[in-house]
Amino acid sequence: MESLLLNNGKKIPKLGLGTWRSDPGQVAKAVEHALTQQGYRHIDCAAIYGNEPEIGTAFKKVFASKQIKRSDVFITSKLWNTNHHPDKVEAACSQTLQNLQLEYLDLYLIHWGIAFADTDGSEPVGKDGFEKTQPVSIQQTWQAMEQLVQKGLVKSIGVANFTAPMILDLLSYAKVKPAINQIEIHPYNSQEELIAYCQRNKIQITAYSPLGSASAGESGPLHDLVITDIAQKHKKTPAQVLIRWSIQRGLSVIPKSTHLQRVAENSQITDFKLTKKNMVQISTLNKNIRFVDPSQWWGVPYFK
Ligand code: A2P
Repeated sequence: MESLLLNNGKKIPKLGLGTWRSDPGQVAKAVEHALTQQGYRHIDCAAIYGNEPEIGTAFKKVFASKQIKRSDVFITSKLWNTNHHPDKVEAACSQTLQNLQLEYLDLYLIHWGIAFADTDGSEPVGKDGFEKTQPVSIQQTWQAMEQLVQKGLVKSIGVANFTAPMILDLLSYAKVKPAINQIEIHPYNSQEELIAYCQRNKIQITAYSPLGSASAGESGPLHDLVITDIAQKHKKTPAQVLIRWSIQRGLSVIPKSTHLQRVAENSQITDFKLTKKNMVQISTLNKNIRFVDPSQWWGVPYFK
């Protein structure tokens, strides 16, 4: 699988397996299948997904078999919002490494640019019903992330869910530039300007929820007539068209599935090419619809 070059000279494979909402009891099998049978070399994880210990058992098994080397796989995880305080960043990363049974991560991301209070669980809610935060700046957190690179715990660092002004601010003090901004991208949320802005600043993009995520249901891009029509013409599936669209835009992309035949299907995307016309047809579907918007559940108008 082809890779994208990061601003520090390292490479991220264009296709990865997403693991958000990959249930315990299923995720290890999916990861093992992706790595050993379907040629995936990029696995996207996060502490908040609650499944890193199980994914760790898959990594241990695969790397112990010596069929695939650790250095051949690009593994990402993410710092959760309750661990933004600089005193907590390294411990959070170490816990993830322990859970994943790894010595280093290829990429560690700030999952969201918002520091939650570190009491009362992973999404602490105050008496007012809104998310409880703490006064820690992104700058403080980023400096602690930079230390992780220095210490060899992670090869690259980056961000997720960052808007252009957040990136601009980060770049004003970052000694280690963010390698990646991981954001929600599918044809209903094409993010053209933010992608262009990041790429201009040598930050690569990973597209999450490229199929619209489970939240989209029947109203998601997998069921859009433009997509199903293009899929039919290429004798491919709608999921393959959506993944291919992101790859042809120069992005890395991390479709999630725990169904082994879909993990396989989602990797069969190199034997066809969308035409220029297809790319335009798909891009015009944009409606700036997010299926992953915490404004609804944190009471923080994050993207507004
Ligand atoms: P499942 O894990 O049950 O296969 P996204 O990557 O955009 O977050 O999308 C993930 C959602 O899309 C999940 O609900 C996943 O379900 C489903 N999905 C993954 N691959 C395919 C596919 N090839 N065809 C249809 N649905 C898929």
